[in-house]
Amino acid sequence: MFISFEGIEGSGKSTLIAALALELQSIGADVLVTREPGGTAFGDAVRSIFIDPQMRIDPLAEAFLMNASRAQHVVESIAPVLKTASIVLCDRFFDATVAYQGYGRGLDIEMLIRLSLVASQSIAPDITFLLDIDAATSIERVRARGTSDRIEQEDTGFYERVRAGYLELAGRFSRIVVLDGREPPETLLAQALQIVVRRRYMVTL
Ligand SMILES: Nc1ncnc2c1ncn2[C@@H]1O[C@H](COP(=O)(O)OP(=O)(O)OP(=O)(O)O)[C@@H](O)[C@H]1O
Ligand SMILES: [Mg+2]
Repeated sequence: MFISFEGIEGSGKSTLIAALALELQSIGADVLVTREPGGTAFGDAVRSIFIDPQMRIDPLAEAFLMNASRAQHVVESIAPVLKTASIVLCDRFFDATVAYQGYGRGLDIEMLIRLSLVASQSIAPDITFLLDIDAATSIERVRARGTSDRIEQEDTGFYERVRAGYLELAGRFSRIVVLDGREPPETLLAQALQIVVRRRYMVTL
């Protein structure tokens, strides 16, 4: 089972993934936690280029960079793991490319969807949790964290476009479940766990 987590910076993806991984492991599931860009040695090298505040990267180059990381990630890690009974929890997957490089940076949406499906060999998440927060909350949370990478230096308008783009994708693809990222972490965990357990074990908690 393949589950991805999406949402703008500081929306709570890493927090939810860590908690959900623990819960799923406690009920006996094998869980792989991974992320994009990243997930392989090559992907981690891509990630360090991607977040470098000194690096100038054209939007199209960004899109190819993300998909290069994705292609390697799918071949080397996700596809083999999905052949087992494991649950893959992936911090961002191809919706992020469409939301950021498409809705955020203005590249063609349909082209990005096609490109991402080529890179993923048409492997798509079974469930995508979209943690929805507004740009002001995002900036506040990221500021509180005190670090700033290349993407985090974008303005509020960029984040609002990305957020709206994510919501548009959620309206289009039924695998995307929108969660209100302003809810407390325990509530989000309970909501996500309920959905995963119902889908995987055909039971409700
Ligand atoms: N549901 C929540 N309510 C309030 N604060 C939260 C919630 N979830 C996470 N946080 C806090 O917000 C900050 C960002 O959370 P987190 O790192 O999980 O977000 P993220 O989506 O992984 O961000 P990034 O995209 O930058 O990796 C952290 O300080 C975290 O403790
Ligand atoms: Mg994170």
